[in-house]
Amino acid sequence: MEKPTPIKRHEALKPLSRDHHHGLLLCWKIREGLKRGVSLERIKKYTDFFFTSQLRPHFRFEEAEIFPLLGEDHPMAQRAINEHSRLESLFKEEAGEAGFHSIEKELNRHIRFEERELFRELQETVSEEKLQNITNKEEEIITPDPDDWDDKFWQETSKA
Ligand SMILES: [Fe+2]
Ligand SMILES: [Fe+2]
Repeated sequence: MEKPTPIKRHEALKPLSRDHHHGLLLCWKIREGLKRGVSLERIKKYTDFFFTSQLRPHFRFEEAEIFPLLGEDHPMAQRAINEHSRLESLFKEEAGEAGFHSIEKELNRHIRFEERELFRELQETVSEEKLQNITNKEEEIITPDPDDWDDKFWQETSKA
């Protein structure tokens, strides 16, 4: 299969791409935690913190300011909204290995979809003026640093 040529990320979408990078790191942290035999409760505390402080504001912002630029009934917008609600319910589940694996897998896939397909579509179809407009609104969603967390279980020496 031919790989699509990467296009340069628009300035206005960079803060969201940075959030995506943090999201992929979360997936990595979950995998590391499970691999290292860290207690599920410790992982859960972090995924709760991450969801509330990072992901929820990010989802809300995309739903309010980004997807409408494509049109609410655009299939990519529809898919992204469905995935948000699926992810939200996964994050709300009780701590469990299967649930963490689903979060890790599905969040990864969601972020790659937005980066490779949805953002690409935005950059190709939405006017420069409308894209510029996003920048001003982004200042409203400054979230705490996801690394500002004492229990760095993903660095723990493996018990296995
Ligand atoms: Fe999203
Ligand atoms: Fe996103």
